[in-house]
Amino acid sequence: MAAVTYPVESRHPGWPGKPGRLRVPAGIVEVRPVRLRDAGEWSRIRLRDRAHLEQWEPTGIGPWPDRNAFWSWPSQWAALRGLARRGQCLPFTITVDGRFAGQITVGNVIRASLRSAWIGYWVSSEIVRGGVATAAVALVTDHAFEAAGLHRLEATVRPENNPSLRVLIKAGYRQEGLFERYLDVAGAWRDHLCFAVTKEETGDGLVSRLVSTGRAGYA
Ligand code: ACO
Repeated sequence: MAAVTYPVESRHPGWPGKPGRLRVPAGIVEVRPVRLRDAGEWSRIRLRDRAHLEQWEPTGIGPWPDRNAFWSWPSQWAALRGLARRGQCLPFTITVDGRFAGQITVGNVIRASLRSAWIGYWVSSEIVRGGVATAAVALVTDHAFEAAGLHRLEATVRPENNPSLRVLIKAGYRQEGLFERYLDVAGAWRDHLCFAVTKEETGDGLVSRLVSTGRAGYA
């Protein structure tokens, strides 16, 4: 039987894409595809921010300094880009005023009649509490529902992670339930609250809602 062929763009809709920019108290937030040359800032910030990040991230193999060394980015970047080109992931860098400020990723993209994925993010400790993550979540959620054609996004967060809970609530996600012993984080199986949003709930989009409530402005 002849192989079914698809237009190239239908294999990875929304990638590479430009979710856009917003103005928040911290500066101009932009979300763009991860780049190989992010290595320097990615590593510098993550090595410095171990205490800020490690307690919330999935347990990794090997010591933090090795996993986050300059030389470990190229393989991570290549793996993310490979998944993106297969339509399984949308891995973005967050910048503030043009400078690397964190990452936001839409992962485990399932299509067919589910059209669902998870979203996860982190932001440099130097610029927290400035609205950056909330803006990035709104930008990427709208992008996932429009350009990438998804229907539902899920975010799982530890009940103790107050800043991340605030981000999801401000961005327009709603709490669905508790996943017990869901994910291996910082060396143990941790409960996670499940937040989600579906396309129908977003109206004119989460970005538009963020702007109309005064939490962000168009840039
Ligand atoms: N206790 C309670 N609320 C807090 C605290 C705290 N210790 N610190 C910050 N906040 C609030 C802020 O006041 C703000 O809420 P407000 O606008 O109502 O005042 C909110 O949390 C943060 O909103 P933003 O400024 O949009 O978010 P920020 O850019 O600071 O990034 C983030 C938040 C991503 C959680 C950052 O702190 C971070 O990178 N943390 C470590 C990694 C992490 O936890 N990632 C998320 C994992 S869960 C997931 O990915 C779904």
